[in-house]
This record gives sequence, C-alpha cells and structure tokens, in this order.
Amino acid sequence: MAEYTLRIRRYDPQSGQAAYWDEHVVEMRPRNSVLDAILYLKGESDGSIGIRCSCQQGICGSCGVRMNGKPGLACNTHLEEAAGRRASLGGEAEVGPTVIEVEPMGNMPVIRDLIVDMDAVHWQKIRRVTPWLMAKEPVPEREYVVPHENMVDVTQAMACIQCGACVSDCLSMEVDPGFIGPAALAKAYRFVGDPRDAQPGERLWDLSKDPHGIYDCTHCFNCVEACPKGVAPMDQIMRLRRKAGTDFDLEDPNNGYRHEHAFVNNIKKNGLLHEADLLPDSYGGKFHPRAVPELISSLPTAVTAMSRGKITPQKALLHQHKAPKEVKRIFEKVEGRGERIELNLYISGYDEAEEQLDIPHVPHTDEPTPLRDPHEDTPPGSAASSDTKPLPEADATGAADRGPATEHQDPPGAEEEPESTDTESES
Ligand code: FES
Repeated sequence: MAEYTLRIRRYDPQSGQAAYWDEHVVEMRPRNSVLDAILYLKGESDGSIGIRCSCQQGICGSCGVRMNGKPGLACNTHLEEAAGRRASLGGEAEVGPTVIEVEPMGNMPVIRDLIVDMDAVHWQKIRRVTPWLMAKEPVPEREYVVPHENMVDVTQAMACIQCGACVSDCLSMEVDPGFIGPAALAKAYRFVGDPRDAQPGERLWDLSKDPHGIYDCTHCFNCVEACPKGVAPMDQIMRLRRKAGTDFDLEDPNNGYRHEHAFVNNIKKNGLLHEADLLPDSYGGKFHPRAVPELISSLPTAVTAMSRGKITPQKALLHQHKAPKEVKRIFEKVEGRGERIELNLYISGYDEAEEQLDIPHVPHTDEPTPLRDPHEDTPPGSAASSDTKPLPEADATGAADRGPATEHQDPPGAEEEPESTDTESES
C-alpha cells in the first residue's frame, strides 16, 4: 500500500464560485486505478465529487479526465503511473512525487467537477462527419464482401471508444474551436476507407473545403499521445489528406493542399525549411496573383521579426542551404515506390522488442491471422502445409477472415455512440 494525495479540480458553474483544488489523501495499492481512488473517496469521504464512469474496464470511454496534465481514462491509469507523470515533469519538488492532480478534460465545457459536456463539442463534431455508412447501390442480396486489406486499413480508426482524450489536448481546437477535431476526423476516415461507402469523394471534398477541416490540423501529435487506444487520430487525418490530394486530386479553396506540397518541395530543395519561400510557394510562387495579397499582409510580421533579429534580409532572400544527399535519397526512395504504403501499426501484432532481441515469435492470443491469398498455391515444402485452410473471404463486418483463436476484438461500442453513461454522479 502507498499513500497518494489526490488533488481534484472542483467546479460547479451553477454555484457562482470559482474552481478550486480539493485535496484528499488515500492509501491504496499503486496498481489501483485513479478511478478506484476517486470512487473510494466518493464512497468514504465526499459523495459530492462529480465523476462520470461506467464500465471501469477501459471500454466505454466515459471516465476521461486529465491526470497530472495528461488526458486519459481514469479507470485504466494506475495511481503509480499517474503520479510518475508529475515526477517526469519535474514537479515533485514542489508538491511531492505521490501527488495526482485530476482535472476535467480540456476543450469542453465543464458540467461539474470532472464531468465535461461531451455533447456540446465532441458529439456535435462526430455528427458533422456523417458517422454512418452510405451504402453503395444496388444493395447486394446477401452481405457485402469486403477485402481483408480494406478492413485492416480502417481497424485502427474503428478502435476509437469516443472518450474525447484527443479532443481534450488538441492544440488546433484550442486556437480554433470550430476545428472538426481529431476524433471526428478519425471517424471520417473509418468510412472514407471503407469500400462499401458510396461517397468517399464527396466526404473528402466536404472535409477539404471546410476551413475547419483536414487542413486545420497542425501536426502537434498531442492526439496521438493522448489516445488510450492507439488510434493515432493525426495519422488518420494525414490519410484523409493523402486520399483527398493524391487519389481524388482535390485542391481545396483554403490552400491546404498547395501549402502541404510547398512544404514538401521546400524540404526537398533546401533540406531545412526555408520559411521565406514557404508562404509565396503555397500560393503559387512570389509573382502569382494569389500570393501578392498574402505577401503584403505578412509584411508587418516580417518587419517585426527583423526588428527583433529573428530574420535578416540576407537570410530571408538568399537562403544558401541545399538538401544533403541523405535527404535526396529519402525523397528518391519514397517517390520511386510503385504504390503508396499505408502503415497500420495498431494491429501489426508483433512485439518490437522480440524482433530486436531475435526471440522466436510466439503469436499472441489476440493477434490477427497473417494475410494470405486463399487462391495462392502453397509452395511445396513450405511452412504452410496443405492442411492449412485458406482464409475465408471477409463478410460485411470484415470479421469472418479472422479465426477464433486469432480474432482481433474491436472494443464493444467502438462503432457506435455509447448509449449513455450510467454512473454520471452529479448528486
Ligand atoms: Fe473508464 Fe469505461 S469507465 S472507460
């Protein structure tokens, strides 16, 4: 057992009082969860603490909070882990290494204490991306048959449990509350990447032309770090961009597509980002009619930067840096590929440490069956013996091609909004 100090952010907007820290000491096992500690306090010392939870198994997504500055699920964060975050932030000298500050998630209004209004932000944005399949016509008499690869491609997005942790820490949303946001855009990819959907192009155009859409993400990686399920929402946004710009040739009116390409070409040419070229190149070049007003409007910023010594006219106009061979080699390799490789790290199923140590790979029980073409001839003497059954084709859910022992379980409720959170303690 160990002693932990829980500092819980308390706030009731209806009381008219400012938010404050409410401190409690609990003695619990380090492997107990933060939610265990809060529920213990609710039961034993202060029943008025507001926290939302349901499954207590990291599945329903309703117990999202910030613990020592990082968003996550209170029910699957150990006390020792949450406390360790403070130590890694260097804050232990100030308040002690076993202090855990629990706050409501960010970017959403607080209803009370640790309960945020998910409907005001998160669910509204999810509804914005038409979160259902728009079926192709004609509808087949039996189930749709979806190639395994396609289902693998969207599995990572499907694993989202809608906890809102990514929304909580999204820096773009902090600056632009209208940004559709990481969770909703990951949801959008789930349908754009599904071959049964009839309108991927329309979806992509809708999300590209919206000034708060896919080009509003600034690659801060916060959502990738925050997600407790490894969905990596930013990766899904980048996939949407690649599909929009490369597969569907969609040039958005917000200049997002051109900016992205100008950025890549800038690095390809200079090795390091040359900011002075980035703005005009994003608008078609220094003398393009589109670029002129932008350059004029950026003049005050340039003058301020020069007056503070951040840039010099020489550096701005005569950028001498050239891309080194290594950078050129990377570009040649990527551009020389016949097809784009999309990585789905979520279900790779292989343990990196095992590979590095050259330990024979032992399949995990939830590891997906390796892909194999069922029509491919088995080479004589190969490991795949003749009694190995070919994989059945996927059904509409993409689940049929996974044998029972190797089934990848999508979290229950991952595809649907949770009905309701049944322990919304607001009393
Ligand atoms: Fe934490 Fe369900 S209570 S995810």
